[in-house]
Amino acid sequence: MTEKAPGTDAKSTSRRDFIKTSSLLVAGGAVGSTLSVARAAHPFGSDVIKLGLIGCGGRGSGAAVQAMNTMGGEVKLVAMGDVFDDRVQGAFRGIKSQHPNKVDVSKERMFSGFDNYKGVLASDVDMVILATPPGFRPLHFEAAVKAGKHVFMEKPVAVDAAGVRRVLAANEEAKKKDLAVAVGLQRRHEPRYKETIQRIQDGAIGDIVLARAYWNGSTPWVRQRQANMTEMEYQMRNWYYFNWLCGDHIVEQHIHNLDVINWIMNGYPVSGQGQGGCQVRKGVDYGETFDHHFVEFTYKSGATMLSQCRHIPNCWNAVSEHVHGTKGSADVSGAKIVDLNGKVLFNYGRGGGDGHQQEHHDLFADLRAGKRPNEGEWGALSTMTAIFGRMLTYSGQKLTWEEALNSQVAAADYDKITSLKDAPPVMPDKDLMYQVPVPGVTKVV
Ligand SMILES: NC(=O)c1ccc[n+]([C@@H]2O[C@H](COP(=O)([O-])OP(=O)(O)OC[C@H]3O[C@@H](n4cnc5c(N)ncnc54)[C@H](O)[C@@H]3O)[C@@H](O)[C@H]2O)c1
Repeated sequence: MTEKAPGTDAKSTSRRDFIKTSSLLVAGGAVGSTLSVARAAHPFGSDVIKLGLIGCGGRGSGAAVQAMNTMGGEVKLVAMGDVFDDRVQGAFRGIKSQHPNKVDVSKERMFSGFDNYKGVLASDVDMVILATPPGFRPLHFEAAVKAGKHVFMEKPVAVDAAGVRRVLAANEEAKKKDLAVAVGLQRRHEPRYKETIQRIQDGAIGDIVLARAYWNGSTPWVRQRQANMTEMEYQMRNWYYFNWLCGDHIVEQHIHNLDVINWIMNGYPVSGQGQGGCQVRKGVDYGETFDHHFVEFTYKSGATMLSQCRHIPNCWNAVSEHVHGTKGSADVSGAKIVDLNGKVLFNYGRGGGDGHQQEHHDLFADLRAGKRPNEGEWGALSTMTAIFGRMLTYSGQKLTWEEALNSQVAAADYDKITSLKDAPPVMPDKDLMYQVPVPGVTKVV
């Protein structure tokens, strides 16, 4: 994590003084961003940190609880937003059952509809958790930065290159405003990964020539279409199977493994080609996504990454990363390094893997100490790596990173979506089937 020291002013002035001064400025006509910058730069110490949650599903609830589990001062949930009120209410009950004294969300600070994020950001929150499906992340992240909030955002941070570019631009603004930006690529916070990767980067296996990354697993949930659902509601409830919301499973899940290899390589692939399709997971329940992708990425050094992700039952499953070098190899997820003769050079053993909690311990310790971590850039570029992979499997073409990052093919115009009655960017045919991408035909750049 990179750390930025707070400004001198922030160190020598109490938070209350800041808010008082800033309120006067606001009352005197100065814009709200003055308050935001002042608040952002201040070390929280043991002050209460007020949290807003945007996207009240499984991960958003989990992240809110993990934020409240941190030490050094209280973290209070004060505002919640989701497109669906039932999700707000369910998450409220779930989070409150775990932290009854740390949830202070009145009815006025529960927001639903597509504008929910505006209500949360206008509440008096210091930090927001962004945990909607990733399609909306660039819009929400940009708005959170504009409002001067510290951000924890789940991965992926976008589903298309336009979204990645938007996140990168907003991230630069976040740095200028001294805002913390954390991204839910939790392996980066796990001691077992950190220790293994440090050794690899220190030369334990020599020069890396090959990397392998896998997310071969099972198909996620399906929510049946109900008679009273609009098409928008159906897709929102089944976001996993729609690219404008999810980005396909290569983006939504496999990003974790691709990010680990990028971390080790200290860079991003420069070119690639791949193949994939929808072999088994067919039918009205499964939207427009592939059930398998295979990509061969090339890094600047000439090293290759072989990447597989698959959602097909009764096949070989693995969620792991491996690297091979001129002097040995590493099972990175297994936290084990061997030389070319198989002699064990390092074995972390068990434990050191609860990244979901550790990433919040690290973030809140930094916020309280006045440090401002920024994970936005690698969060965005590892997201781009996964999007690049999808572009390669959907198109069947060989492409460069530059071509992919500059792609003008956008998944949706998220700013214009305001109602569950709006038409989503993809529609089914008369049999309620969606067009699945076709390699050799589908255009991605
Ligand atoms: N880091 C990890 O290991 C990890 C694990 C699981 C999920 N995630 C990520 O977390 C995010 C959420 O996943 P989940 O499993 O919680 O899904 P989920 O379906 O349980 O929750 C998503 C919630 O967002 C809501 N939502 C959709 N559009 C919204 C909008 N525009 N504004 C506000 N709310 C909106 C949905 O109604 C839903 O309640 C995804 O990006 C996913 O990839 C990360």
